[in-house]
Amino acid sequence: MHKIFVIIAVVIIMLSLSGCENPKQNDNFSLKDACEGRFLIGVALNTQQVGGTDSLAQSVIKKHFNSVVAENCMKSEKIQPEQGIFTFEDADKFVAYGEANNMFIIGHCLVWHSQVPAWFFVDKNGNDVSRDTLIARMKNHIQTLVGRYKGRVDGWDVVNEAFEDDGSYRQSKFYKIIGEDYINLAFQFAREADPDAELYYNDYNMAKSAKRDAVYEMIKALQYQGIKVDGIGFQAHLTMDFPEVKDMENSIVKLSELGKIMITEMDLTILPWPSDQITADVSFRMENDPKYNPYPNGLTEDASKEWTNRMMDFFTVFLKHHDKISRVTVWGVSDNQTWRNNWPIEGRKDYPLLFDRQYEPKPVVDEIIKIAEGTN
Ligand code: XIL
Repeated sequence: MHKIFVIIAVVIIMLSLSGCENPKQNDNFSLKDACEGRFLIGVALNTQQVGGTDSLAQSVIKKHFNSVVAENCMKSEKIQPEQGIFTFEDADKFVAYGEANNMFIIGHCLVWHSQVPAWFFVDKNGNDVSRDTLIARMKNHIQTLVGRYKGRVDGWDVVNEAFEDDGSYRQSKFYKIIGEDYINLAFQFAREADPDAELYYNDYNMAKSAKRDAVYEMIKALQYQGIKVDGIGFQAHLTMDFPEVKDMENSIVKLSELGKIMITEMDLTILPWPSDQITADVSFRMENDPKYNPYPNGLTEDASKEWTNRMMDFFTVFLKHHDKISRVTVWGVSDNQTWRNNWPIEGRKDYPLLFDRQYEPKPVVDEIIKIAEGTN
């Protein structure tokens, strides 16, 4: 009789131990643990998450992610809304949050044509400033911001979105007033302000060959001049049809010749894209229409499966190339706060992230953990 109890006890212990290998049965198993040694798993945070008012997000952030990036609070319109008036309150909280949770902290972003205050480019009469004045403003902005968090922010998106999809330079005010060397200068100013921080170039649609090649040539030219670019960020705002996974893979392989690759703003919209032009330009906007909002009451099972499969196709490629990729960051914690609900069309219901509106992990989270575990 005694023997039977011992056997039953042993069987129960063995079953519970084998459960530990199955992420589904182990509540403590996380994305960041599964991807340890491959790449960091990052998430963009908004001020409610940093401030704790989005209380349900807290356990998800702390459990699954080991890197954070500021979704909006470090952009120039927030940091220096008026010339010489720097507002660091939210950015301070963001950096403190990352530190308190031992996370790899990314500052986003120093030079970008979007979410930049109008004063940056004009004099008091509203005319464009001179090249020298804009360089001085750019230098002061970069060095004040990077200098404040010297030794605390681990990496900066220095220049964001300098190219059009056809590989030509974006005709931003930075480009038009300074010329293409605004990029060199931005990297130099950031390097002077914090020589130990990693410095990145970041852009969307990196799977497009013309853009990829333009970024490649630009970074090679910078490196030839002795300007170090530590990494190249692929935003990865994905749709169900674009890009093809193999094009993304080609770009990862090609650009990894020049520095480490990071997937920096990943989200995958399930909603129909309302135009022929696929972009992540935040100024691209369309009118709402029910045909563009097909899942107001929840996803169908088929749509959800298709979404999971496509997400897994990308993660499979990322894990395959983990020697080239240092970080995969998703652009938000859960579907209820993603910018995709309001861009490029206001007021839709989208499902682009890894955690649902109840902050529960989607099936894709277990899938990623499983394949990450099997990756050497
Ligand atoms: C987005 C934010 O998520 C939104 O909240 C904001 O209204 C607009 O900007 N590329 C970038 C990010 O580099 O900074 C953008 O973030 C998304 C596209």
